[in-house]
Amino acid sequence: MYSDKTEAVLECIRERTSIRKYAERPVPDNIIHSIIRAGIEAPTAMGLQPWRFVVIRDKGLIKRISDFCKGNLLESLEQYPPEHAEPFRKVLRDPAYSIFFNAPVLIFVLGDDRCNQSVYDCTLCAGTMLLAASALGLGGCWMGSAEVVAENPALLDELQVPGHFRIVAPLIFGYPAAAQPKKPERRDPLLIWFD
Ligand SMILES: Cc1cc2nc3c(=O)[nH]c(=O)nc-3n(C[C@H](O)[C@H](O)[C@H](O)COP(=O)(O)O)c2cc1C
Repeated sequence: MYSDKTEAVLECIRERTSIRKYAERPVPDNIIHSIIRAGIEAPTAMGLQPWRFVVIRDKGLIKRISDFCKGNLLESLEQYPPEHAEPFRKVLRDPAYSIFFNAPVLIFVLGDDRCNQSVYDCTLCAGTMLLAASALGLGGCWMGSAEVVAENPALLDELQVPGHFRIVAPLIFGYPAAAQPKKPERRDPLLIWFD
């Protein structure tokens, strides 16, 4: 019904899914550049492009960030009823568990707080990066649970996050492992439509 190019774009959008199981295969520099180059094609309020990117492939650093987030998430579980908290607590206490699912690449998309709408801009940029990764044969996932890095000034300093920037999107990327769960199905959208 549509042209091949249009169908390919729509298929890429339909097939993108969050990947949480990664193959042990490194991601080359040029692929990371392509993902970021695609991200910055997203719309941006007033054309300000108020983003920065911190790319981390250092396994030790990714583990340290994961360990900090795990500690913080464990603390926040205190407020939940024990029966809900316990299964999560068990996972988080496992020293081998990484909140980044052992992905080889972690990218923080940072937004400039001096630009009012930078959170929208960076969110669109991050969504475009996830689509681009999928088109390139990689998988990715937005890791909201890593937002708590914002509460660790020493870590922010080490990641070279300037004071007037905030972490908007922590994203992981890598080549997907062979077996993956099915993409969660979407409900039909609720529409209000005036003709
Ligand atoms: C703002 C945001 C935060 C998210 N945080 C997490 C997270 O911390 N851990 C995780 O495994 N997935 C996270 N996800 C991924 C969602 O769980 C996923 O997009 C959703 O279940 C739909 O699945 P799909 O992306 O495969 O279509 C997040 C997604 C968004 C948009």
